[in-house]
Amino acid sequence: MEQEPIRVGLMGLGTVGSGVVRLVKNHQEDLWQQTGRGISIERILVRDKGKERSVQVDSGLLTERPEEILQDKGIDLVVEVMGGIEPAYTCIREALEEGKHVVTANKDLMALHGAELLSIAGDKGCDLFYEASVAGGIPVLRALTEGLSADRISTIMGIVNGTTNYILTEMARKGTPFADALAKAQDQGYAESDPTADVEGLDAARKMAILAYLGFHTHLALDEIPVQGIRDVTTEDIQFADQLGYVLKLIGIAKRNEGKMEVSVQPALLSGEHPLASVDGVFNAVYIHGEAVGETMFYGPGAGEMPTATAVVSDLVTVVKHMELGVNGRGMVAPYCEKRWKSPREIFSKHFLRLRLADEAGVMAGLTSVFAEAAVSLEKVLQVPISQGGEAEIVLITHTASQHQLETILRRLDEMPAVRQLMSHYRVEGGNG
Ligand code: NAP
Ligand code: HSE
Repeated sequence: MEQEPIRVGLMGLGTVGSGVVRLVKNHQEDLWQQTGRGISIERILVRDKGKERSVQVDSGLLTERPEEILQDKGIDLVVEVMGGIEPAYTCIREALEEGKHVVTANKDLMALHGAELLSIAGDKGCDLFYEASVAGGIPVLRALTEGLSADRISTIMGIVNGTTNYILTEMARKGTPFADALAKAQDQGYAESDPTADVEGLDAARKMAILAYLGFHTHLALDEIPVQGIRDVTTEDIQFADQLGYVLKLIGIAKRNEGKMEVSVQPALLSGEHPLASVDGVFNAVYIHGEAVGETMFYGPGAGEMPTATAVVSDLVTVVKHMELGVNGRGMVAPYCEKRWKSPREIFSKHFLRLRLADEAGVMAGLTSVFAEAAVSLEKVLQVPISQGGEAEIVLITHTASQHQLETILRRLDEMPAVRQLMSHYRVEGGNG
């Protein structure tokens, strides 16, 4: 006898929700073959029922009342694609407490309340999946929790924000200034009308919090992650980086050595040979190094209607398979590692500095002595003549130094009258040393 279809309550019918409706309709036969069950979208929550939709749905399915999904005993599974913290948080909580499985694409919510919601899901024997929340269509959460589960992850580095990667690629390829590149990203529909979360690095930080949580098996709070956005990046910085064999990207970095971790988001220079260096435009990629597996990289579209919907519906398929096996809520691994952060003396990288100096005898010697006193050696130095003002510009890359050593150098440079301005400073990843 053919089984009843899985009944889904869809919360949100915007970009991702429309993709979910399209995918469930167009791939119904494949989904049935893989799960043995049909998938029926029974109700769709929206803010405004009267709004024109890009996808055709029976208007009788639309509701503006969350309780019509949450209190409907016939609905097995809730797909939350509204975004934001509220009412998404309350809806997901209530859905889990009612024994409904949940699939969400909401990184803001999972970065902030993921641990609590996952614990409720486990207690209730429900699945809570969120593959689409990081890097859209790239199945990187599943790679961490399943494909690499036997390994110990030492590094996760990600280009996990498509908008900023598009902006930096435009600045690098065409010399477009930041503000114009941002306007172009908005014209092309990549950046939101309010692009603050993307440009300030907050969107990437939310995704890195989720990746580090899964990779390092430890709780971490979003406000523990130092975040720097790309607003101050200039085309000159990108050109100097290029001259020295590097590209400039907004990078999320999560590293763990000897049980201690660092997690941060910042514009950083990547050696041209690093696997992430060639990830351009709106594409995302996550580089993962495991002690046993070595280097791996996951690349693809980090956003967009159909790529994101693919991740959502694939999660839905896993929930249905679990229902068939009766194992919902049993596959989750609670964080089991103690949270220990590295100190500034234990965080190592190379550094790029661009300085405006007085163009006078002895200034260069004074500068190099600051680095020597901090026991930091220089890898590359470039002097750029400036035609006016009796100043010169120095661009340099250090050998590997600790964050503590670098902070000491920056303090000393700030005290030197001959150092007129620190134009820019970036962390450098990849390359020798
Ligand atoms: P969106 O286009 O703004 O759509 C949001 C949908 O939710 C709309 O249908 C809206 O209803 C509905 N909604 C919002 N607030 C509501 C409320 N208070 N009550 C009832 N309905 C409400 O958003 P999206 O781009 O699809 O993103 C959805 C989620 O996916 C977010 O968490 C986002 O971070 C995540 N995500 C998106 C992408 C992407 O490429 N867009 C990629 C990865 C992850 P109306 O249509 O009536 O306004
Ligand atoms: N604003 C995000 C980005 C969308 O630009 O990558 C996907 O989370």
